[in-house]
Amino acid sequence: MNTISLFSTAHQLLLEPLASHKVQGVTTLYDAWLSEAIVMDENYPVSEAIVCGMPPNLPLVEPRFLKRRRLYSVEGKAALIHAILHIEFNAINIALDAVYRFRGMPMQYYADWLKVAREEAYHFVLLGQHLSAMGYAYGDFPAHQGLWEMVQKTGFDVLARMALVPRLLEARGLDVTPDIARRIAKAGDTKASEILSIIFQDEISHVEVGNRWYHYLCEKRQISPITTFIDLIKELAPDYIRGPLSFDARRRAGFQDNELELLKIMVQAS
Ligand SMILES: [Fe+2]
Repeated sequence: MNTISLFSTAHQLLLEPLASHKVQGVTTLYDAWLSEAIVMDENYPVSEAIVCGMPPNLPLVEPRFLKRRRLYSVEGKAALIHAILHIEFNAINIALDAVYRFRGMPMQYYADWLKVAREEAYHFVLLGQHLSAMGYAYGDFPAHQGLWEMVQKTGFDVLARMALVPRLLEARGLDVTPDIARRIAKAGDTKASEILSIIFQDEISHVEVGNRWYHYLCEKRQISPITTFIDLIKELAPDYIRGPLSFDARRRAGFQDNELELLKIMVQAS
């Protein structure tokens, strides 16, 4: 197997606009990592611009312009699947940016985020195939870039990124996914419900990756994980506190009870 340069390849895949190329490239990169066919090109420059490739046909709009998705029609169900598919596309980019942007982390950090990228690509494929069976494709509905905006806001520091992207925004998926899976099963789409259950299990481990590296960085810098988290939310994400929280799923993803109690208070106050 030929060797692959980690940082330049992660960057190139981040900028790749076509989903099929991105998915294939992430698979190849992760296989190379597992085969130890990777070169750590640490000197590859980090661009200040935090941009990702987006499919040219995907209409991007402000969240307030998105229609409410009602599950009694095929179109409504497809719109919901499309919204989650778009989250998975963003999630591939989030994992790639976590690899590419932040240098000098332990090797396990890169192993973790490459595995996340590979699993997000798998989620993207599962949902994409299901959407296709419903007669739709990625790009057929409008989407918003709220998740990516938080990636851009936290590009200055890996600690802020771990705090606010996996631990705040992606953790929200743990609260809501089981209910979405139940609702879509009730609406007759058991296949979608099964896919969401797979995604839910994997997302617990993805949030756990964010939690673990967040705590590693707090310990290294000798700062309090709780007050730092609260300060970062107040400074960069005051509007992102939402509930109800799933304590059970979040505990499995590495949240501690004192953090969850504090988050609950913030939700009640918001
Ligand atoms: Fe995912």
